[in-house]
Amino acid sequence: ERPKTIVTRKLPAQVEARMAELFDAEFNADDTPMSEDALKNAVARADVLVPTLTDDISKDVLASAGPQLRLIANFGVGVDHIDLAAARARDIPVTNTPGVLTEDTADMVMGLIISVPRRLAEGEKFVRAGKWRGWAPTGMLGHRVNGKKLGIVGMGRIGQAIARRASGFGIAIDYHNRHRLPEAVEQTLGATWRENLDDMLADIDILSINCPYTAETHHLLNEKRLGLLGRDVYVINAARGEIINEEALTDALEKGAIAGAGLDVYENEPDIGERLLALENVVLLPHLGSATFEGREAMGDKVIANIRIWADGHRPPDQVLEGWA
Ligand code: GLV
Ligand code: GLV
Repeated sequence: ERPKTIVTRKLPAQVEARMAELFDAEFNADDTPMSEDALKNAVARADVLVPTLTDDISKDVLASAGPQLRLIANFGVGVDHIDLAAARARDIPVTNTPGVLTEDTADMVMGLIISVPRRLAEGEKFVRAGKWRGWAPTGMLGHRVNGKKLGIVGMGRIGQAIARRASGFGIAIDYHNRHRLPEAVEQTLGATWRENLDDMLADIDILSINCPYTAETHHLLNEKRLGLLGRDVYVINAARGEIINEEALTDALEKGAIAGAGLDVYENEPDIGERLLALENVVLLPHLGSATFEGREAMGDKVIANIRIWADGHRPPDQVLEGWA
């Protein structure tokens, strides 16, 4: 019996074709995000739910799950939109897609690390607006990134991939992570562990947020911590919007208390505050971190592998273990 697999959003065509071959799969052809009721209806019928980050898989939604729901195979690495404790309480394993979006996300973060201090997005808009009058010795100057210090918050796969890239640009790397990396890894990355986040914030030129969003990292970058950053500091976030207090960040940017920001994620996607939209020293992207054809297909392959291995009676390889310890 092929598992009844409900997929909440449209996935790349090759991925859906493979799923249709292997599973009794139901897709979301018009790709509208499912309402809470639609999600409740899905978990009441599915053996396997394939949600993604735009779905709120809350305790309430999971309360509608039928006894046949045996796996949540998330399309994506972050699982903050799934109530893991509620899934655990029902013995429903949750899997994600680590590894396959690491390099793409790190590339995009590097893009922001260059774009914001060098004013690339602003310059592009300037040209298109017909405002450019030719090269000038003092025209649209930004700040050099070579020789600066990057502080990475969250040194998992993505954080490490950013460190490897940034080293090539001559940027020094400090990192804050719950656990210190093995010394050999630190040496290879040329990265210095900072046990104290606040001390690190006071001592860097560029900040990149790359930790998961959890109860502990909600508003990790709050008004007080933003206040520790120097006036020349750039803030980059391609993790989750809720890790930064967006209002406090906007205040800091408006006041010139920090130099600029590069954001790929927001607290209330897809809504972005008017005040943030009005700022020049900010590059705003529409959550593009993993948005490559190659990456999204590989994410689909991971979802399929997890479902198949689970359906064969084994523990799926990418089971998220938080809450299962
Ligand atoms: C993207 O943001 C993901 O979590 O996969
Ligand atoms: C992503 O795959 C991470 O673990 O950082």
